[in-house]
Formats: sequence, structure tokens, C-alpha cells
Amino acid sequence: MTDAERHQAWEARYGASAMWTGKVNAHLKEWIGSHPDMSPGTAIDLACGEGGDAIWLATRGWHVTGVDFARAAMVRATAAAEARGVEATWVVADLTTWVAEISADLVTVSFLHEPEHVRAAVWRSAARAVAEGGTLLITGHAPDVAGAPGPPAEMRFTAEEVVSALGAPWRADVREARRDGIGRHAGHVVIDLIMTLTR
Ligand SMILES: C[S@@+](CC[C@H](N)C(=O)[O-])C[C@H]1O[C@@H](n2cnc3c(N)ncnc32)[C@H](O)[C@@H]1O
Repeated sequence: MTDAERHQAWEARYGASAMWTGKVNAHLKEWIGSHPDMSPGTAIDLACGEGGDAIWLATRGWHVTGVDFARAAMVRATAAAEARGVEATWVVADLTTWVAEISADLVTVSFLHEPEHVRAAVWRSAARAVAEGGTLLITGHAPDVAGAPGPPAEMRFTAEEVVSALGAPWRADVREARRDGIGRHAGHVVIDLIMTLTR
């Protein structure tokens, strides 16, 4: 599949029906919970899909921007934010070429399982958008989990790949966590890779 075909495929999926639960992902929620003294700041959620994470941050007082190349996803995110009565900025953009016009205290990229050249470009875009002293939170399905539900092996990534794509001066705190699958993965145990990057 070419990059253009993958874009079309995402548009078609979001155009056909809601894809995700609309709820915040557990690792973002946990990261926020582990910083009880932190005041809400600015956040950018890259490849935000239908905006569940961005909307949750907005409900907690963050000034949030969600970016995704699927226009149909941004339409769903806009409607979901309106329904929750929160404000967020939604941007339709291809993140392999996107250049942040703002920097943010927290930049997230969650469950982006695309070919290596795409994900590396998106991580670099994400890193450039992190404000001085800010945090980049990258989560995904853990690599090398034979038989686990989720993306195929070639769309999964390791912590080493992320660190190598970003280079110095990024420092990574890396862990894996098991959780009960939700949505299409309900009934399975899913293992996630969680990376907190600072510089
Ligand atoms: C598996 S979904 C994850 C959505 C959301 N982050 C979540 O955790 O629910 C991956 C998202 O990446 C987006 N995406 C893939 N490649 C992209 C690109 N080059 N630029 C912008 N968005 C992209 C897709 O449209 C899709 O919404």
C-alpha cells in the first residue's frame, strides 16, 4: 500500500463508522495522574483519531490541539468536543510533513502503527513540537508479541527505534504494561509499550 492509499483507507474507515471508544487511553490518564502538582498547560495530540485523548485533556483544563490527516476523523472529533462542551483545535494535516506552529508542554502520539518511514517522520515532528522542559509521550502496542491482537509485526516499533529516530538529547523512560483489550480487542490481554521522553 502506498502512503496515499493508507490515507484513503483511514478516511474510508472513519467515514464508515466510529472507530474508537472515545475514552482517554489508560497510559495518558496515568501519566497525568502521576503529576498531581502539574497545572494544565498546552498539549498536542498527533494522529489523534476521533480525539478521545485530546477531549479528555480539554475537560481537565488543557489547551489542546489534535492533528490527524483523516478529515473524517476530525469531523467526528469536532462533534465529540462540542457534545462534551469543551474547546479544542483540530488540524487536518499529514504529520510526515507537518510543522508545528506552536510548541506544547505535552505532545502525545498514541497507537500510530504505520510503516517505519511514516512513524519515524511523525515522531520527529512530535519532538520538534515539544516546548522547553516539556514531555513527549509515545505509546503503542508492544513489539514482538506473537499471537497478540493488534497491528502486524512490521507496524509495531521498539523503544530503540524511537530513540534512534529522535537521537540526542532525548532521554526515554520505557516500560511495558498489560491491560484488558477494549473495542475490537475485548476479551484479549494487550501489552503496550509506553515511552516518556524528555530532553
Ligand atoms: C490507530 S489510530 C490511533 C488514533 C488515536 N491516537 C488513538 O489512540 O485512539 C492511528 C491514527 O493515525 C492517523 N495517521 C496515520 N498516518 C498519519 C499521517 N501520516 N498523518 C496524520 N495522521 C496519520 C490515522 O488517521 C489514525 O487516526
